[in-house]
Amino acid sequence: MAMFAVLLLLAAPLLPPAAAQQPPGCRRQCGNVTVPYPFGIGARCHRAEDRGFRLECDDTRHPPRLTVAGYGHEVVAISLASAEATVLLNASRACYDRTSGSGRVLGRREYPMALNGSAFLFSSMKSKFVAIGCPDLAYFVDDGGYYVTGCMSVCRPSERALPGSCRGGDGCCQSNIPLGLASYRPHVRSFGRRQQQQGGTFLANSTGCAYAFMVDAWWFWYAGSHFNRTGDFAVPVVLDWAIRGAGAGGSCATVRENATAYACRSAHSVCLDSSNGPGYVCNCTSGYEGNPYVLGGCNDVDECAEHDLYPCYGVCTNTPGSYLCTCPKGWSGNATVQDGCHQQDKFTLALKAVTGTTCLSR
Ligand SMILES: *[C@@H]1O[C@H](CO)[C@@H](O)[C@H](O)[C@H]1NC(C)=O
Ligand SMILES: *[C@@H]1O[C@H](CO)[C@@H](O)[C@H](O)[C@H]1NC(C)=O
Ligand SMILES: *[C@@H]1O[C@H](CO)[C@@H](O)[C@H](O)[C@H]1NC(C)=O
Ligand SMILES: *[C@@H]1O[C@H](CO)[C@@H](O)[C@H](O)[C@H]1NC(C)=O
Ligand SMILES: *[C@@H]1O[C@H](CO)[C@@H](O)[C@H](O)[C@H]1NC(C)=O
Ligand SMILES: *[C@@H]1O[C@H](CO)[C@@H](O)[C@H](O)[C@H]1NC(C)=O
Ligand SMILES: *[C@@H]1O[C@H](CO)[C@@H](O)[C@H](O)[C@H]1NC(C)=O
Ligand SMILES: *[C@@H]1O[C@H](CO)[C@@H](O)[C@H](O)[C@H]1NC(C)=O
Repeated sequence: MAMFAVLLLLAAPLLPPAAAQQPPGCRRQCGNVTVPYPFGIGARCHRAEDRGFRLECDDTRHPPRLTVAGYGHEVVAISLASAEATVLLNASRACYDRTSGSGRVLGRREYPMALNGSAFLFSSMKSKFVAIGCPDLAYFVDDGGYYVTGCMSVCRPSERALPGSCRGGDGCCQSNIPLGLASYRPHVRSFGRRQQQQGGTFLANSTGCAYAFMVDAWWFWYAGSHFNRTGDFAVPVVLDWAIRGAGAGGSCATVRENATAYACRSAHSVCLDSSNGPGYVCNCTSGYEGNPYVLGGCNDVDECAEHDLYPCYGVCTNTPGSYLCTCPKGWSGNATVQDGCHQQDKFTLALKAVTGTTCLSR
């Protein structure tokens, strides 16, 4: 009994408040995806004050499937430094009967994505709304049913191609996504499929299916916009996440007042107002890296070990949050540039000795 009390006394001052700790014993990996706090797999492993940080890992699938609890979106990447996550979205499509020339719809699948109430919003910077197919009129509405954005795509004959890619005349069109968007309900429509349609030729080379989807813009340009597809496929979408919860949300200026809810836990962390929607994100300060959301999460970067990023051609000395790069003893100059150090010749040294080391006396 006495020993128990002693243990308690010893342990108490060492333990930070419960909210400040990264929950112990939680798995941080699902397949190839790393799950850093404030995200967590299962109960009590994530930041509790906000929705959307709780994830589920289905190990019965090959590869294991990571999803946002309560939403079902499949997560394929999470970044702390950029406060982004990549999830998969099925492309919506409408497929037409081309053989009879009637333009009859053979199948239509529209896949919405709802993020409302979660920490996520669609990234206005990294994601785009894209429609492919000829002809294709695609747009999406928000959860109120109001039009957000859309575009139309047709196929001009190749000899009459217009410059630029995915500008609407090459079987592909795109629209930007506004800030603060939490809900996406796409519609894929057609026009000019019937031969009788007048006022323009939209059918130069009609495709069997017209598609519309939100997509990681970089991924899309890399994959190439010119694909003639017929089946279903999923694409990656970039989301911005932030600490947005009603009690804990708000700007950095207001949230610092409430120490229990403040999410930036590491000593070497900074608070940044969210660039998309309400709330804030945390980052390690310059010269530190790691997880700013946990105590002791931001660690000093050893710049001397990363020569490509922090070149040093002299003597490199790592310091907390920075590093020193100096010329070797007896040399002077700028050691951060190649051949920047010069040997101090005997004459200069002798002169310095005589005049009492000029730089020190100044
Ligand atoms: C996981 O990563 C390994 C090594 O990079 C790779 O070979 C494998 O295909 C990846 N698995 C999945 C499901 O992405
Ligand atoms: C966080 O810091 C890293 C490294 O300094 C930087 O690359 C990144 O853009 C920062 N993140 C945000 C959200 O500002
Ligand atoms: C995406 O499409 C696949 C195949 O059609 C389907 O199994 C899956 O449930 C769809 N995902 C969503 C989120 O609708
Ligand atoms: C998201 O919005 C829909 C429609 O407005 C609503 O039915 C649903 O409950 C909302 N979900 C959350 C988590 O707020
Ligand atoms: C239609 O597409 C086919 C196959 O890609 C191509 O050979 C043909 O030139 C196209 N026709 C027109 C009018 O662009
Ligand atoms: C698109 O693919 C379908 C089926 O693979 C093919 O019949 C059709 O000719 C293709 N269209 C173009 C324009 O390449
Ligand atoms: C601080 O945040 C916690 C958790 O969100 C909340 O319960 C509490 O009321 C807040 N305190 C103040 C003074 O705002
Ligand atoms: C050394 O050279 C680098 C690169 O040209 C420059 O950025 C830096 O300011 C120089 N340092 C000194 C002390 O002159």
